[in-house]
Amino acid sequence: MSEKLTDRVKPVDQKKKFSWSDLPEGYECLSPMAGVTDTAFRQICKQHGADVVFTEMASANMMLNAPAKNEAFLHYEEWERPIIGQIMGGDEKTMAEAARVIQEMGFDGVDVNMGCPEKKIVGNACGSSLLKDADTAARIIEAMANAVNIPVSVKMRSGFFDSEIVQPQFAIRMQNAGAAALAIHPRTKEQAYKGSADWTITRRIVESVEVPVGGSGDITDREAIRRLREETGVQGIWVARGAMGNPWIFERDRTGRPPLSEVIETALEHAHLMVKYKGNHGMVEMRKHLTWYFNGFPGAAAMREQMKTVNEYEDLVRLIEQYQLLECFAA
Ligand SMILES: Cc1cc2nc3c(=O)[nH]c(=O)nc-3n(C[C@H](O)[C@H](O)[C@H](O)COP(=O)(O)O)c2cc1C
Repeated sequence: MSEKLTDRVKPVDQKKKFSWSDLPEGYECLSPMAGVTDTAFRQICKQHGADVVFTEMASANMMLNAPAKNEAFLHYEEWERPIIGQIMGGDEKTMAEAARVIQEMGFDGVDVNMGCPEKKIVGNACGSSLLKDADTAARIIEAMANAVNIPVSVKMRSGFFDSEIVQPQFAIRMQNAGAAALAIHPRTKEQAYKGSADWTITRRIVESVEVPVGGSGDITDREAIRRLREETGVQGIWVARGAMGNPWIFERDRTGRPPLSEVIETALEHAHLMVKYKGNHGMVEMRKHLTWYFNGFPGAAAMREQMKTVNEYEDLVRLIEQYQLLECFAA
């Protein structure tokens, strides 16, 4: 790598307090994804044009009681700014305390997860469970907004039950409780990730609140980004699964995915960062990213199978060399 990653990103004025309202219309965020949006992947997306990045969700309880367990989730580099720490929890005291920790760690904002559909999280009255209890959710936001100077934002779903859409009333409550920005993934908890996102709900929220609204859900390519903005009027776009193996989605003038050589270069850069931050275990975590990067390339099916077995950075280099040689013979 001749050029440093950081050379490709505009410097940020760190003395200036981050505000969602100051972002240019149409800003694009790397949406929080547990097990995916660690510092390595955020850095990759940042260099391809993500304007704002989010950490994976961290448990407020764990942050206060077992901080070492969350250390990797909350590690970031200065040049990732603006960077938002996402937390989840179910009571206002713990959440306000955790928000203070996020602020002390230097994050530009703190985001509350009100969308996670996982059984364990919902069982603890956290994540999407809060959609069933707007009073508690509002108390959490109010306590957090009173506890910190950085903006508090909320990422939420359209409701818990398919039969009970809580938007846009829920969004209005969160705004009135002190949320400086909102993001909506318009699927219910019951839907989880099935079916399609209902962008008409996103539009209704945009029309109902004054704070900036971000749209999430089914952002698969640049065309989807354009359509979401046009159909809903959202200020920001939250890109999630569409960025997996495809950080190029953030490049405004790119149509489609780059050639294999560029994908290889980025995959190696990403793997290098994974090992830098997580040691060899980083390569085990990297396996899923590798299958996403090489998805769809002709003849890559066999290589993708082998990628599920890489243990070290050198294994990956060897595999890629072998694959490129095969390509040469096939040409
Ligand atoms: C693997 C995975 C992990 C996710 N983790 C989180 C998370 O930690 N916090 C959160 O707010 N949303 C999380 N999400 C939801 C995404 O941020 C996004 O809202 C959702 O995937 C819808 O967007 P999409 O259809 O474009 O993928 C996760 C999604 C996926 C696929």
